[in-house]
Amino acid sequence: MADWQTLSDRINNVAPSATLAVDSKAKAMKAAGVDVIGFGAGEPDFPTPAPVVEAAVEACREPRNYKYTPTAGLPELREAIAAKVLRDSGYAVTPDQVVVTNGGKQAVYEAFQILLDEGDEVIIPTPFWTSYPEAVKLAGGTPVEVFAGADRDFEPSIEAIEAARTPRTKAIIVTSPNNPTGAVWSRETIRAIGEWAVEHHVWILSDEIYEHLNYDGAKTAYVGVEAPECRDQLIVLNGVAKTYAMPGWRVGWLVAPAPVAKAAAKLQGHLSSNVSNVPQRAALAAVAGPLDEVHMMREAFDARRRAIVAALNDIPGVSCPTPTGAFYAFPDITGLLGRPVGPNGTVSATSAEFAAALLDEAHVAAVPGEAFGAPGYLRFSYALADDQLAEGMRRFKAYVEA
Ligand SMILES: Cc1ncc(COP(=O)(O)O)c(C=O)c1O
Repeated sequence: MADWQTLSDRINNVAPSATLAVDSKAKAMKAAGVDVIGFGAGEPDFPTPAPVVEAAVEACREPRNYKYTPTAGLPELREAIAAKVLRDSGYAVTPDQVVVTNGGKQAVYEAFQILLDEGDEVIIPTPFWTSYPEAVKLAGGTPVEVFAGADRDFEPSIEAIEAARTPRTKAIIVTSPNNPTGAVWSRETIRAIGEWAVEHHVWILSDEIYEHLNYDGAKTAYVGVEAPECRDQLIVLNGVAKTYAMPGWRVGWLVAPAPVAKAAAKLQGHLSSNVSNVPQRAALAAVAGPLDEVHMMREAFDARRRAIVAALNDIPGVSCPTPTGAFYAFPDITGLLGRPVGPNGTVSATSAEFAAALLDEAHVAAVPGEAFGAPGYLRFSYALADDQLAEGMRRFKAYVEA
C-alpha cells in the first residue's frame, strides 16, 4: 500500500485471533491434502440437534423472517432466554434485559463499547479467552492481566485482583467454566469477586457460555446467584454455540440491567441490526427445548477429557492438570522448550514456536498459550472424534519420543 494508505491506530493495535489463525492454517493444510488432526477450534464436533435444524428449515419458508425485526432480538427469543436464566441460574430477569447478538463474541464487544471510556481498565483473569483484551482495546480501554497458574488450578485470588485495582478499574471478567484452562472456579471465588465488585463499584462481565459442561462433580457457580447484590452491575454473556453444538449459527446474547441492555441495542442498531431471523428461530427451539442433547454431549466430552489428560501426562515433558469444565485441556509444555524435539531436532524457544513445529512436522494443531496470556502452555480442544483424539495424541507422543 502507498504511504498515505495507513490504517487506524485502533485496528493496528489489535492482535488477530490466534485460535482462528491456527484453525484456518490447519484447515488450509487439510484442503491441500495433509492429514491434520485439529485440536485448535473450540467447536463441538456434534451436529446441531435435529429439532433445532427443523425449526430453521421451517423458518426459511416463513416470509415474516425475511424482514428486519427488532434489533434486540425476536420477542419470543428474548422471553425464552429470560426463562432459561431462571431455569439454569435460578434468578428472574425480564426480556427487556436481554439483547440477542451475533454470537457471544458480539456481546463481549458491545459490553466494552458501552461501558468503557478511553483509559478505563478492565481486570482480566489470565489465562484468558483470546478475544477479551482485544475487545477492551477496541473500546479504548486497557486490559489488566491477573495471572493464576496451574498451581492455583487457574483460579484467581481476590488478593491478586484487589492488588490490580486502581481508580480507573471499570470492570472485571469472570469466565467459569473457563476457556482455555477448563477450570471451574469455586463458589467462594465467584462470591468473593461479586462482593468485591459491589464494594468497589466495578462492573462484572460473566461469560457463562460453557455453563453446562461440568465434570467430576464440579458445578458452575453463577455470580448473580452467589452475590445477588451485584445484579445491578452484572452483564451476563452466553449463547447457543457450545451448549447446542451451534457455533456457525452465530446466536449469542447478553443479559444486563435494562438501561445497559438498551444501550447495547442502540449500538447494535448502527452496527449489525437484528441477528439473522432464521438462526434466531433455531436458537429459540434450542433455548426453549430440553437439555437432553447437552447431557449426551457432556458424557462424550467427559470420556474424551479423561482420555486426553491421561495421554498428555504420558508424554515426557508435558504436565496436564485435570480440567473439570468446558472442553479444553491446558498442559504445561515448558519441559519441551529450549531443547531438540522431534525427528528433525527442532528447538523451540517458546510455546508459539513449539505449536508451529508440532503442526508442520507432526500435523497436530493446538493453540499456543501466548494466545491466552499464558506462554509455556498449549490448549487442546477435545471436541473432536474419539479416533482423531487418539491419533493426535499418538502423533504428539511419537513426535516427542522420536
Ligand atoms: C469463553 C468464550 N466466550 C465466548 C465465546 C464466543 O462464542 P460465539 O461467539 O461463538 O457465540 C467463546 C467461543 O470460543 C468462548 O470460548
